[in-house]
Amino acid sequence: MDDSLLTLNRVTKIFQIGTFLSKVKIYAVRDVTLTIEKKPMVFTLVGESGSGKTTLANVLLRVVAPTEGSVSFLGRKIESYKKSEFIRLVQPVFQNPYETFNPLKKVELYFRSVINKLSIVNHNGHAAEKIIDQALSSVALTWEEVRGKYLHEFSGGQLQRLSIARALMVNPTLLVADEPVSMLDASLRVFVLNLFRKLKEEKQLYVVYITHDLATAYYISDRIAVMLRGSVVEMGPAEKVLLNPLHPYTALLKESVPNPYKKQGESRFEEREEQILEIEEYAGEGCKFALRCPHAKEICRREIPADVFLDDVLVKCWLYK
Ligand SMILES: Nc1ncnc2c1ncn2[C@@H]1O[C@H](COP(=O)(O)OP(=O)(O)OP(=O)(O)O)[C@@H](O)[C@H]1O
Ligand code: SF4
Ligand SMILES: [Mg+2]
Repeated sequence: MDDSLLTLNRVTKIFQIGTFLSKVKIYAVRDVTLTIEKKPMVFTLVGESGSGKTTLANVLLRVVAPTEGSVSFLGRKIESYKKSEFIRLVQPVFQNPYETFNPLKKVELYFRSVINKLSIVNHNGHAAEKIIDQALSSVALTWEEVRGKYLHEFSGGQLQRLSIARALMVNPTLLVADEPVSMLDASLRVFVLNLFRKLKEEKQLYVVYITHDLATAYYISDRIAVMLRGSVVEMGPAEKVLLNPLHPYTALLKESVPNPYKKQGESRFEEREEQILEIEEYAGEGCKFALRCPHAKEICRREIPADVFLDDVLVKCWLYK
C-alpha cells in the first residue's frame, strides 16, 4: 500500500525553444524522484534562479505535464483525478498577490465564485458567508475588513493573506506556495511563514514551499530538497541539510545567505552568479556544478553523480561515492 502523500517518479520536463532549424532543449526539471510522506509538513524546494523550482511546482499543480516520469498524489496518478476533484486537494499560492485579484472587482467576489464554482454549498448564502468567515479567520482577517473592498484598499501583506484564505476555502490537503513571501517586507514575511506553520499544526495541512532564500527555508521547513539546474542534488531533514550541508552547491547557497555583518558583494555567490550561469551552459554531461566546485574531479565532468544516502540525507555528489 502507498502511504505517501506525493510521489514524483523520475520527473523530467524539457522545454524546446528556438526555430524549426535551430531548436534548443532546456531541461527545466531533470529526473526528479522524491516522496512526501503522510505526516503534515512544510517541504521546501530551494535553489537559485532557473533551477527549475517553478516548473516543478507547475508539474505538481498539473499546469505543466512532465515530458517523462509520473506524479502520484494519495496513491493515484495526478492526471487520473477530475479537475474539480484535484483543485479541492491541491491549491496554489503565488508570489504576487496583485496578480491573483482583478483591480476592477471587489475582492469578496473571488471568495463567492470559489463557492459557486465548486458547489461547496448550494447557493445557501448563509452557509457561504460562514465558509468565507472561517477561511478569513484562519489568516487573521474578518469579513468586516474585506466586505465591499477593492484590491487597492488592501496592503500587500493583507492581499497575500487573502490569496491564502481563498486557497484554504476548499479545505485542501496541500498548498503549493511559489515564493509567497518574496514580495513582502520582513515583518509580513514572518507573519505569513508563521501562518503556514500554524496551518500545518492546526489543519494538518501540507505545504510545498518554494524559495531561493535559505533563511526562510530554515525557519519553516521540515524537509528540504535543493535544486541545481533541474535536478535535486541534496534532500533530507531541513535542519540537517541546512546546518551541515553535504553537497558543495548547498554549502555555496548557505554561504550566500545575507549576513548583516558582511558588506554587500562579499558573498562568493553574489559576486559570481552571472558569470557562473554563462559558464554552466558548457558544463557538459556530468555534474552541473563541476565548473564552480572547489572539489571537482575528472569523473565530475564526465558522469552524472549517483544517488548516495548518508543516514536520512540523499546527496548526489562524487565526493561521497
Ligand atoms: N515556458 C518555458 N519555455 C521555455 N523555457 C522555460 C519555460 N519555463 C521555464 N523555462 C526555463 O526552465 C528553467 C527553469 O525555470 P524555472 O522558472 O522553473 O526556474 P526557477 O527555479 O523557478 O527560477 P526563479 O527562482 O527565477 O523563479 C529556466 O532555464 C527557464 O528559462
Ligand atoms: S560531483 Fe564533483 S563537481 Fe559535483 S559537487 Fe560533487 S565534487 Fe563537486
Ligand atoms: Mg520560479
